[in-house]
Amino acid sequence: MKILSIETSCDDTGVTIMEAKGGLSKPSFTVLTDQLAVQSIHAQYGGVFPMKAKIEHEKNLPILLEKALKEAKLDTKKKPVDLIAVTYGPGLEPCLWTGIVFAQALAKKWGVPIIPTNHMEGHIISAYGKSSGSFTIPKIQFPMLCLLVSGGHTELVLSKSLQKYKIIGKTRDDAAGEAFDKVARMMGVEYPGGPKISKLAQEQRAKNAASPFSFPRPMMYTKDFDFSFSGLKTSVLYAIQKIKKLDNAKKSAIALEFENAVVETLIHKTKKAAEKYKIKTLIVSGGVAANTHLRNEMTKAFEGIAPVIIPSRELTRDNSLMIGIAGYMQYMKKRGKVPNPKNIKATGDLQL
Ligand code: KG4
Ligand code: ZN
Repeated sequence: MKILSIETSCDDTGVTIMEAKGGLSKPSFTVLTDQLAVQSIHAQYGGVFPMKAKIEHEKNLPILLEKALKEAKLDTKKKPVDLIAVTYGPGLEPCLWTGIVFAQALAKKWGVPIIPTNHMEGHIISAYGKSSGSFTIPKIQFPMLCLLVSGGHTELVLSKSLQKYKIIGKTRDDAAGEAFDKVARMMGVEYPGGPKISKLAQEQRAKNAASPFSFPRPMMYTKDFDFSFSGLKTSVLYAIQKIKKLDNAKKSAIALEFENAVVETLIHKTKKAAEKYKIKTLIVSGGVAANTHLRNEMTKAFEGIAPVIIPSRELTRDNSLMIGIAGYMQYMKKRGKVPNPKNIKATGDLQL
């Protein structure tokens, strides 16, 4: 079946069309088109401005859809797809509504069902996706652990069987990506700060130079699997306040120590959870999973413990391809039973 997927939960607008088959036993996908519009207007506000993001989604969606249908060579006069998957949470509600209302209008026009899809399930399953061509979701070895690290979430999710999730740890304050963005802002680095902080840290690491700064590794030795990044962020702020001239060399040194602190904490807790639950698969996904240091260190740390599956960099960030995969699998699980499109509601704090 052909599936159109729509993502508008935060500041990226995505529209993807895939051919999906194989049901839950061997789900496989061919990407016909994958469109993403990255909203750059938020850089000037130092973070995502929900109402501006909503307006951008409203502008982007019809343009992306037109491009997508053209690229996939589909005729809009007939029913071009069989199913629409749309993110209904978690995320910014005004933004989520834009995607939902757009999906509802298309569903009515074409007479197709809508499967409301959880953005976080999308991030998990994105680990098995490819941004072009064809791919099959392999038989996953359970128990599976997933470290979801993004701008809004830092969670450890345990999964003992397909599409069943239990959150076993989460951040008590800031998400890891949010901490990257806030530290960037303190140093006058534009939003989104994660990639830029990571680049600064890499520069310092490449010089083989240790950082003269020392920041805490928060909640490293607590018995739970929770995280906290707010104290670390405050330590960075105090360090910056003591510096007379924050030049590039100082920024790189701070970035290195900050990145090391975040990555060490994430790995420590993930490893503890992996040992306790004897996991057979580890997935690391969400925007922060684009971080090179995290990717390298997590893979090293899990050698001999479990295979580490991390999405390609394009698929770590928000995208609609992952919504298409998760949507198809939910549709199969529910054997095609979907809600009345009118009853689909944006759910900002939707849980897994
Ligand atoms: O998943 P995502 O695109 O959106 C959310 O659902 O939040 O994640 C965006 C977050 C931002 O906080 C961004 O700074 C962070 O991911 N990020 C990174 C890197 N690339 C993106 N953080 C650290 N290192 C990176 N290379
Ligand atoms: Zn996300």
